[in-house]
Amino acid sequence: MDKKLLIASNNVNKIKEIAEILKAHGIDRELLTPKMLNDHSEVIEDGFTFKDNAYLKAKHYHDLYHIPTLSDDSGILIDYFLSLPGVHSARFAEDYDYPMKNAMIMNMMKYVNNRNASYQCDICYIDEDVRFYEGFIHGEIARSAKGEHGFGYDPIFYLPSMGMTLAEVKPEDKNTISHRYNALIRWVHDLEK
Ligand code: IMP
Repeated sequence: MDKKLLIASNNVNKIKEIAEILKAHGIDRELLTPKMLNDHSEVIEDGFTFKDNAYLKAKHYHDLYHIPTLSDDSGILIDYFLSLPGVHSARFAEDYDYPMKNAMIMNMMKYVNNRNASYQCDICYIDEDVRFYEGFIHGEIARSAKGEHGFGYDPIFYLPSMGMTLAEVKPEDKNTISHRYNALIRWVHDLEK
């Protein structure tokens, strides 16, 4: 096994997807998470951009443990909401669960024709230096929530080219097309240089 890699996240869905993408690309690192290190510290994600927040998270854990660290800051950008919730995706309508949040978004967009939306993912990797990678997936806000896979906004993120939502796409397929995959694959290619 190659060297350790600390995933700077406590989001189990993200961690699972990152682990699967890295495995599929032969990255044989021992993956650690803050939870595995019994770390309960909190990162204040008050950056203005995904890149800012990715850096805040990676730096926080790298400063603490001096282990090569990879963070993911991501979110959904909805055209009709002028790219919001964007960096605030995790905190949007915080008191509600995702089925409620998704229903709210679809309700607010009931009479809206421009349904374009994207997911964005910014990765920050800190080892000997600091590196950034970005990935996107483009789609639309669905008119009804569908699918059981994925997490968060996936049931209302419709992919016209596939005729289904991201929550209907099998996890192994999501991990070959997602914003997270598109960012991580850039890191993987950089490692191979
Ligand atoms: P972060 O942990 O601050 O980067 O927030 C990420 C948030 O963006 C998640 O909690 C979700 O709301 C949303 N998000 C990011 N990636 C995905 C995805 O792949 N599927 C669904 N929601 C996502």
